[in-house]
Amino acid sequence: MKKIQMVDLSSQYQRLKHEIDPRIQSIMEQGYFIQGPSVKLLEEELQEFLQVKHVIGVGNGTDALQLAFMALDLQPGDEVIIPSFAYAALPEVLLLLNLKPVFVDVTAATFCLDVTQIEQKITKKTKAIAPVHLFGGVAEMDSIIQIAKKYGLFVIEDAAQSIGAQYCSGATYGFAGCLGDIGTTSFFPSKNLGCYGDGGAVFTNSDLLAEKVRKLANHGQSKKYFHDIVGVNSRLDTIQAEILRVKLSKLVEYNQIRNDLADQYISGLSGIDDLILPSKSTHSTHVFHQFTLRVKGKFATREQFRHYLTNQGIPSMVYYPLPLHKQIAYLQDVQLKVSEQLCEDVISLPICPELTHENQEYVINNIRQYFKKN
Ligand SMILES: Cc1ncc(COP(=O)(O)O)c(C=O)c1O
Repeated sequence: MKKIQMVDLSSQYQRLKHEIDPRIQSIMEQGYFIQGPSVKLLEEELQEFLQVKHVIGVGNGTDALQLAFMALDLQPGDEVIIPSFAYAALPEVLLLLNLKPVFVDVTAATFCLDVTQIEQKITKKTKAIAPVHLFGGVAEMDSIIQIAKKYGLFVIEDAAQSIGAQYCSGATYGFAGCLGDIGTTSFFPSKNLGCYGDGGAVFTNSDLLAEKVRKLANHGQSKKYFHDIVGVNSRLDTIQAEILRVKLSKLVEYNQIRNDLADQYISGLSGIDDLILPSKSTHSTHVFHQFTLRVKGKFATREQFRHYLTNQGIPSMVYYPLPLHKQIAYLQDVQLKVSEQLCEDVISLPICPELTHENQEYVINNIRQYFKKN
């Protein structure tokens, strides 16, 4: 049996090598490494795939968020509503820009913003809502957009984990990251659309915001050596863009494999009382960046289960062990019960297009065995 891995990028590369290697070689020969023609081609292909007017390739997913917020011209102290059960990039960027993250709880069913709790957190200083589409699902965007419209707020979506997922409810439809004013993604190697280093992108249908992000990402230049605004250096490498073009052509297929694997897990693990399995929303498709389930009970129960998996040669991860409002760097004295509970009981199992049927069976059988005995 092949070694089981959370993400198996070397096997994926072996399959794509014949397509990727000549493209990398050709860039080496052209010698055009920053903002070469491949970046423009990738941006155009992503625009078509995501049905969004503008895609701007940038240095990584965290920069993409920073650039999105910089483009909105917010003032120091302005507040942005974000989920507490998520990756750290959002509060980090907000605090660097002197904006205030206002943490809101998530729902256990979606792992995304609890839309029923947003309005009570809105103050005169609130300027934006920034949902994170976690684990491959999509937040309840129709309600979020309705609330944003009611209070005149921007919507910035973090779609680092959900590229390719589609949403349709009420008046809101389209791809994750392209539903609000501005959206972002990460091309970190383990992402559903990942490159071989750092990379990210900003999505928007606004010409104005797109122009601003492009300028900000390139030292605030309107043309070479003419700086109109204070920007940053955050550009997608030409080699990474070419790798991403190959992988984008497989994204639908890979996301389908992830869905098939998720279905196998759900049927293989159903009926175990101690586990709460993830479910798909009726308003969106899912791209299962992670297959995250919950072990009922407390931290210790999950840790025992993880220990057992490790002993059986099955890797697992805890995304995330501490909610953002309890992190030392972003500490806030609020109680967000669902986020706090999820950090105690979530566990993610291996899911990637390279996971073999045999390996997945092994994972499922071992988990069934564990809960039969315990
Ligand atoms: C939800 C989310 N947002 C933002 C990021 C940041 O992306 P990057 O690592 O490319 O900066 C990540 C990456 O792990 C992420 O998962």
